[in-house]
Amino acid sequence: QSPMAPSSTNRGRRRVVLLPLPYQGHINPMLRLAAALYSRGLAITILHPETRAPDRRKLPADYRLVTIPDNIPPELAASEDIASFVFALNKNCAAPFRDYLAGALRAEEEGEDGRVAFVVADVDWFAPLSVARELGVAALALMTSSAARFLVYQAYPSLCRKGYLPVQESNFNTAVEELPPFLVRDLDRVMDMAQHLAYADLLAHIVAGVRQSSGLIINTSEDMEGREIERIRSEITLPVIAVGPLHMMTASSSVGSSLLTEDRSCLDWLDTQQPNSVIYVSFGSLVGIDTDEFLEMAWGLADSQRPFVWVVRPGLVHGCEFSTLPEELQKNIGSRGRVVSWAPQQEVLKHPSVVAFLTHCGWNSTTEGISEGAPMICRPLSSDQMGTSRYVCDVWKVGVRLEVENQLKRGDVQAAITRLMEGKEGEEVRERMKDLRHAVGKCTDEASMMSSTYLTVDSMESFNDVEAS
Ligand code: UDX
Repeated sequence: QSPMAPSSTNRGRRRVVLLPLPYQGHINPMLRLAAALYSRGLAITILHPETRAPDRRKLPADYRLVTIPDNIPPELAASEDIASFVFALNKNCAAPFRDYLAGALRAEEEGEDGRVAFVVADVDWFAPLSVARELGVAALALMTSSAARFLVYQAYPSLCRKGYLPVQESNFNTAVEELPPFLVRDLDRVMDMAQHLAYADLLAHIVAGVRQSSGLIINTSEDMEGREIERIRSEITLPVIAVGPLHMMTASSSVGSSLLTEDRSCLDWLDTQQPNSVIYVSFGSLVGIDTDEFLEMAWGLADSQRPFVWVVRPGLVHGCEFSTLPEELQKNIGSRGRVVSWAPQQEVLKHPSVVAFLTHCGWNSTTEGISEGAPMICRPLSSDQMGTSRYVCDVWKVGVRLEVENQLKRGDVQAAITRLMEGKEGEEVRERMKDLRHAVGKCTDEASMMSSTYLTVDSMESFNDVEAS
């Protein structure tokens, strides 16, 4: 479909243009925001780079999908150098985005299409924010991760100046006074100097992009990060809306955003398990682990004698493609473990048989775990995950840390499972998770959602008034 061709159901409706960063952990919250806005009567256009387009067939028929030429070499798109990819995306897509939006505004003027109410771009895809404002359209930045993470972004230059960054192992246990409750070990572990400088540069661009936007939407809730949200509000002069967690804003758990094919057979398998017995294990869509960690994790799960579902996606294990566990392990586990390449995660977490979540603490996984009341075993591996694990274990106290000295050992896995599932500490953690789930659920219920602090079409559209004033 051409970007400008109005479908009969869309004609005249106010339209939101959304730009998700093409990674699973960023696409999910953006498409959830799209679904929430759609259900409130707005027409939806998703702009995506040629690289990693969302699956058209999984989205509502009247969503418009528009491809933006990105000119990114396939090697870069496939590489793990996310900073370079994000820079290239911003640089290469700015002009095509300008052409697109100018065309959309012409179509609006000529009465061919509904008014563009506002643009929402991932904070990482910052270039469109200033382009939209130059063209007179309100542009909101979506922070798909936590408010605490945004505070790290803002503080990055001063953390570098003060010598916290790049992190050094000898400083791991030093408190970051400017950013409680973080220790140095909770910050990004970019230890190579060239990579560190490139990353610092990227974050500076992200923060500058947000400062040039009309407002910041954060995928978090006041109950989880009230203090952090307040601090952001005191540090930037823009409207800041805590809108989430976004997956709780839409009635349907699936909004058709999965880049990989879900293996739904694990839900049937969960039906055959005892209530509150299964550990769900997943490390999200990006991080990788080495073969030793993979095997120790598997033996740890086997030795725990508890049933589990484990997502071993293609690429999770560096250097080899494990689709099944080695034979000896399989024998040991018997029918207690189920390995899938990609799971319908929200449905798995919701399943009554699932009792706990062994997670890398990606922000989406964390908020999904909280909304389903699944106490966590945290094995953070990179970027924001260490910081999120700090909140899970030490602020909300709804999970336990998988304590590892250098290399993960099977005994570490077993010990963490025992801490969570047995004894007084585990009981308290599980109780607190029930309370947090309740609080977050209450704050996103329909009544609150319709109040002005949360996601309403009017509150978002009011950014247009900010533009005008
Ligand atoms: C990345 C970073 O790693 C994370 O720390 C950051 O907060 C966002 O970007 P990712 O590693 O993919 O994200 O983790 P996460 O944020 O948890 O997102 C993963 C998403 O994939 C979740 O929405 C989860 O429900 C979904 N998922 C995961 C599945 O649908 N099936 C699976 O099998 C595993």
